[in-house]
Amino acid sequence: MSIKAANIVWHKYKVKKEDRYRINGHKSCVLWITGLSGSGKSTLAVEVEKELYKCKVHSYVLDGDNIRHGLNKDLGFSAEDRQENIRRIGEVSKLLVDAGLLVISAFISPFREDRLKVRELFKTGEFIEIYVKCGLEVCEKRDPKGLYEKARQGIIKDFTGISSPYEVPITPELVVDTEELKIEECVDQVINYLMNNGYIN
Ligand code: PPS
Repeated sequence: MSIKAANIVWHKYKVKKEDRYRINGHKSCVLWITGLSGSGKSTLAVEVEKELYKCKVHSYVLDGDNIRHGLNKDLGFSAEDRQENIRRIGEVSKLLVDAGLLVISAFISPFREDRLKVRELFKTGEFIEIYVKCGLEVCEKRDPKGLYEKARQGIIKDFTGISSPYEVPITPELVVDTEELKIEECVDQVINYLMNNGYIN
């Protein structure tokens, strides 16, 4: 999206991201968690954050349902609104990464193009796409909020997987299979990735 305002000038800050790494003792990045409703994105996000907290890592979770209560309460679930939802979250994630945090963004983010646009906001290695793999059948069986049932009845329109598409990531950094693995194993997978790649110690 191009900038609408005229006469604006970028100000450089004197404290850099790298300075923040030094005082925090870890790097910053965004774990971009994508998957169907009911796949386990939010569960994974909060459990990963709990582990990071134990390791004294400064982190913050951005979660679809929560952000839609505030910042994005003007947005619904049309393709255009989802695109704007993800665009804004991408920008917020970028600010938080700049602030030195390990950001965990958990959104369905169903469209590849929108996820790619977010990736492009970041330097190489700062955007880690995590696909929470869980088939529609299992998500629908879990139906923790009763939304699939409502979607099948036609009460909820544009529901991901039922009446709105989900585009599976082609080359995510990580695939976490919540159908096959226990949540603790999924969390370990993420924490190991962060350790093995030098984001945290
Ligand atoms: S998106 O597609 O990335 O813009 O969605 P997101 O911001 O992550 O919000 C998903 C949560 O909104 C609830 N919900 C719906 N999801 C999908 N489609 C429709 N139509 C819909 N209506 C409400 C639902 O609780 C989603 O949360 P999760 O955690 O994914 O189940």
